[in-house]
Amino acid sequence: MSFTDKVVLITGASSGIGAACAVRFAKSSALLSLIGRNVDNLRDIARQCEECSGLKPIIITADITSDEDVERLVNQTMNHYGRVDVLINNAGTSSIAESHAKITAYDNVMSTNVRGTYLLTNEAIPHLIKSSGNIVNISSILSTKPLPILTAYCMSKAAIDMFTKCAALELGAHGVRVNAVNPGPVKTQLFRRSGMSDIDTDRMFTSIELNSPLRKVTKSEDVAELVLFLASDKANCITGSCYVIDCGVNLGDSST
Ligand SMILES: NC(=O)c1ccc[n+]([C@@H]2O[C@H](COP(=O)([O-])OP(=O)(O)OC[C@H]3O[C@@H](n4cnc5c(N)ncnc54)[C@H](OP(=O)(O)O)[C@@H]3O)[C@@H](O)[C@H]2O)c1
Repeated sequence: MSFTDKVVLITGASSGIGAACAVRFAKSSALLSLIGRNVDNLRDIARQCEECSGLKPIIITADITSDEDVERLVNQTMNHYGRVDVLINNAGTSSIAESHAKITAYDNVMSTNVRGTYLLTNEAIPHLIKSSGNIVNISSILSTKPLPILTAYCMSKAAIDMFTKCAALELGAHGVRVNAVNPGPVKTQLFRRSGMSDIDTDRMFTSIELNSPLRKVTKSEDVAELVLFLASDKANCITGSCYVIDCGVNLGDSST
């Protein structure tokens, strides 16, 4: 699948799934706009992309919870490339807290995962209509599976699934496709940032590997392959869909 001359904007490209998407799209010759807050990590990922494609991505440090940053990141991408073909709404955060816990944790999760995604998408839509482009939103299997310690996160991803469907319905007539990818657990910085210890994270992934139906854990690179497919012309009849990629975790433990 070639993305030659296609401009792909990826949020949260400085870590985990977004970084893997950046490298995968670079291998398919995409022109990349990489967004994140950690400039050192962005530079490192941009260097890896350039090694794959010979093309230098632009990196933009921006916080998607900021209206000014969101407007600026779209403008900078347009000024540099003159078009946007694919928007990957990947930036996200999580917080281990019960539903009655601090409202600041809820606000942070919702303003990043939902408001940031909504705002950036609306900024990008006129450009995506011009390019007959498409959007891939990174949701989660927790959009449909309740987990009490991650109530706000589950709520935010349920909103992303519905946003995907509403936007697909709204934009279909303009030639813009919108889909979501719903990963199961992937070992990234997300867990440490959520407040989980490294020991607990390691234990959780060992257990998943032993008990998931496929006896393995989904990797960021696996998610990136699915994102690439959905963003490509091979998926030209797919819109409004939410694709689970989780080694069967959502089906339950197959060892009992
Ligand atoms: N890992 C999993 O098990 C899993 C499962 C299902 C879905 N997901 C989803 O996958 C996506 C990527 O997560 P990940 O697992 O790769 O986690 P990660 O390694 O923690 O990466 C999160 C990325 O989002 C960026 N980000 C967070 N808040 C931001 C903000 N306000 N403005 C701009 N960028 C922001 C981070 O940027 P900086 O580092 O530069 O701050 C980082 O690049 C998220 O939407 C997450 O919900 C993850």
